[in-house]
Amino acid sequence: MSITQNKVVVVGGGLMGTGIAHAFASSGFITVLVDSNEVAAVKALAAVAKILDDGVRLGKLEVAVAEAAKARLTTHVDLATACAGAALLVETVTENIVVKKQVVAMAAVHMLPGAIIASNTSALSVTEGMHFFNPVHKMKLVELVRGIATSDEAVAKAREYSDALGKTSIIVNESPGLTTSRMSAMLGNEAMWMLQEGVATAEDIDTALRMGFNHPMGPLELGDLTGWDTRLSVLRYLHSTLGDKFRPCPLIIKMVASGRHGRKTGAGVYQYDDKGQRVPGSGLKASVL
Ligand code: NAI
Repeated sequence: MSITQNKVVVVGGGLMGTGIAHAFASSGFITVLVDSNEVAAVKALAAVAKILDDGVRLGKLEVAVAEAAKARLTTHVDLATACAGAALLVETVTENIVVKKQVVAMAAVHMLPGAIIASNTSALSVTEGMHFFNPVHKMKLVELVRGIATSDEAVAKAREYSDALGKTSIIVNESPGLTTSRMSAMLGNEAMWMLQEGVATAEDIDTALRMGFNHPMGPLELGDLTGWDTRLSVLRYLHSTLGDKFRPCPLIIKMVASGRHGRKTGAGVYQYDDKGQRVPGSGLKASVL
């Protein structure tokens, strides 16, 4: 039996769960999205439909293909029922170890024998992980996280699933921040140290990375997108686990304390107007650092 005939459960219908459910449903998997909050489940279903409808509108997807993907996706509020007959579960609930453990324990009882349970956690310690990237329908990478108890078979199976989604997967031994979050935290922190020291303007630091290294975004604009509050909590975790090279730049701490969290609060390193457009020339200046 091809793995695409398998039933897949995605638990947590937030930002990431929506994208992951879309990826599975549009790659041919019977997909059940579980969220304990019914409103969130309904919202997630609508968000997946919107991604598919946008694909049709932009001429990237045929109507029949989009409708077939929608038909493969259902939602459920009860995890135990949803898990019956499932071969893969990806949990992507709130970043809280207690909640995640409850989900995994319940799933283990109700799924098929030999089923794979993977976590999309950004930083918590796991035994098996599939780390997707936001926005899932645009980002090609999946980090397959190998914990101490993860078998070779489970890694191979997880890779098969990633391949079926058209993603490129890499294997990472469980380690704080995996490869991507660790590298990105380091770059963003260093860019902030440079800004704080007055080495260059915010705009020029971002331009350096975009034009000099072909990065699609500079580290300061990316931090504004991710949110400096999230960045700071990742840096604090990496500082505590990997040492002083991840000591958060004081400017990040100052920005978070003052509510400049990034795009979502209307200001971060840059300022944003009511439509979310960046205000030209608004990068933090030395006089306010
Ligand atoms: P979110 O807050 O948007 O969504 C979490 C969802 O889980 C909510 O809809 C909530 O109702 C649901 N939920 C909570 N407890 C539940 C339970 N017991 N059973 C079923 N549903 C439950 O969070 P987001 O951003 O989607 O993140 C989810 C996970 O993905 C976290 O572990 C996060 O660290 C990780 N992640 C987030 C990325 C991002 O860019 N936001 C990137 C990569 C990983």
